[in-house]
Amino acid sequence: MPTVTFLNDLGPDGVPKSIDVPAGTSILDAAKRSHAQVGYACGGVCACSTCHVYVRSGLSSLSAQKDREEDILDKAFDVRASSRLGCQAKLGSAPVEVEISRESRRAYFDEHPESRT
Ligand code: FES
Repeated sequence: MPTVTFLNDLGPDGVPKSIDVPAGTSILDAAKRSHAQVGYACGGVCACSTCHVYVRSGLSSLSAQKDREEDILDKAFDVRASSRLGCQAKLGSAPVEVEISRESRRAYFDEHPESRT
């Protein structure tokens, strides 16, 4: 099973949160399972861009980007070549490391105010 690591979201042990998930799982679902701080204002239906992440390694192993994802990413902040929407990017067999975008973390804390420290 591929491992997803959220480089800029540390667990209580000070280590980046990571989780092993079956191939075909989206980065957003991996984030939910590992309690990583990835927002998902539209519920994961490719309509908001709050699940925006930067893929630091394993980008080529992810599912191909479709037109709809590109259209939504066009509306996101600070889009880079490594940008993907977590709800649309599905894992292949390789491990993936991602950095959660600022807009995604902001959305996560709006959705989970109890998580603010
Ligand atoms: S959660 Fe809204 S586009 Fe991914």
